[in-house]
Amino acid sequence: MADYGNLIYGYDQKVPTKFGLKRYLNLDNAASTPPFKAVMKLIAAEGLYYSSIHRGAGYKSRYMTHRYEESREIVRDFVRADPDHDVVIFTKNTTDSINKIRHYLPYLPGESVIYTRLEHHSNELPWMNEKHFIVELKKDRLDLEQLETILKRNRGKVKLLAVTGASNVTGYLPPIHTLAEMAHSAGARILVDAAQLAPHRPITVYPAADPRHLDFLAFSGHKMYAPFGSGVLIGPKRLFSQSAPSQVGGGTVKAIDSQNVYWVDPPGVEEAGSPNVFGALAIAESCRVLNKIGWRKLIDHEQQLLEATLLGLKKIPGVTVYNESTTQRVGVISFNAAGIYHQIIAEALSEYGIGVRTGCFCARNYVKHLLGLDQTSSPTNYASQLPGMVRVSFGCYNNLSDVSNFLEALEEIVRRPNKIKLNNS
Ligand code: ALA
Repeated sequence: MADYGNLIYGYDQKVPTKFGLKRYLNLDNAASTPPFKAVMKLIAAEGLYYSSIHRGAGYKSRYMTHRYEESREIVRDFVRADPDHDVVIFTKNTTDSINKIRHYLPYLPGESVIYTRLEHHSNELPWMNEKHFIVELKKDRLDLEQLETILKRNRGKVKLLAVTGASNVTGYLPPIHTLAEMAHSAGARILVDAAQLAPHRPITVYPAADPRHLDFLAFSGHKMYAPFGSGVLIGPKRLFSQSAPSQVGGGTVKAIDSQNVYWVDPPGVEEAGSPNVFGALAIAESCRVLNKIGWRKLIDHEQQLLEATLLGLKKIPGVTVYNESTTQRVGVISFNAAGIYHQIIAEALSEYGIGVRTGCFCARNYVKHLLGLDQTSSPTNYASQLPGMVRVSFGCYNNLSDVSNFLEALEEIVRRPNKIKLNNS
C-alpha cells in the first residue's frame, strides 16, 4: 500500500496516551485534515513576500496579488470550471460560501428550494425558512423518484436543489451530475456542498450548457490539507453582479457618489476587506499536491482502508455501522457499540492516542433518520445523553496499520467496557 504519511506536517507528532507518548492517530479527517508539508513550506517561503494585495503599488504587493490571482486559477482548473462563465470567490469556509449563495437567491412568492435528508446544517439552515421540500432516503440512497415528483409538480418554481457531494456522516456519494440533470430539466439550479467531496474525489463543474453542470460549488481548505482559513465558492459570474454584495467594505467599491455605490466586478465584490492571501495560496498548493498524487491512486488507497475497516467492524460484537456499502462512498464511517455511549467510546479511543468525532456531526436530521428516531424529537426528550454516533474518517495519509490499531483499541474497549477508566473520571 502506498505511504503518503511523509506528505503530512505533524504526521509523527506524539501525544500523551495511557501507554505513554504515541504517534497521534487522527481518524477525524472529515472535521479537519492536518496540513500538507508542501503547504506549510510554501507559506513559510511566501511569508518573506507577505503584503497586502490589490492595494499597494510596491513590489511585494504586486507579487502577492499575482500569487493570489494565480491561486484562483489553480482552484478553478482543479474543478474544471469555465473561466468565461464561472467565478472563483475565496471565502472563509463552506458555511460562508453557502451563506453567500443564499444572499444572491432571494425567494419570490411561490418559489421553493429543495434540499435532502443528508445535509450538514451548513446546507440546511440557510434554506429551511423558505418554502422547501426535503428529499428523503430509500434504502440508504437518495430517493430520486421522490425528487422527480417534487420537480414535476413544481416545475419552474424550484429555485435551487441544494445537496451534499459526500455525506460527512456515512460517506455516501449522491449522484451529483444526475441530480444536476434533473434539477436543470425542471428549471432549477444545483448547489453542491463539496466540503467532504473535494478531498476525496475529482470534481468537474462542466460548462453551463451541459446539463451536468454544477451551478454552485462550495468547499473548505481546512478539510483538504490547507489550513489558514480559506474556503471556495464557485458560481455564475453574472449572478454576483446583480445585487449589492453580502458584505460591504474595502475592496468592494469601484466608485461612490452621494446617491450610489458602484461595486467592483466579481470576484472582488464578494471578497470584502483585505483578502486572506495565505488561505488562498494554501488551497491552491493543496490542489497541486492532490493532482500530483493522482485521483486513481487516492481513491484506490482509500477504498482499501474503507473495506478493511468495515470488515473489522463487522467482527466486533455489538457494533452497528450506519452504511455498510463498500461502493458509492468515501472513507467516512459512523457506528455505535451496543450498551456504550458514543462519547465514552471516543474518549476511550483518545486514551489510545486515536482521535475520532462523536455526536451528530452537525447533521442532526440525518443522524436521527439513521438512528430511527422521530424527526420531531428535541433535546428535552433525552435527559443528559443526547443521541449520536462515533465517526472515523480517513485522510490520504492513513494506512492499514492505522486501521488495525483502531480496530484493536475498539475491540478492547467494547469487550471490556467496565475496564474503561478515563483520565477525567
Ligand atoms: N463538518 C465537520 C464535520 O463533519 C466539522 O466534522
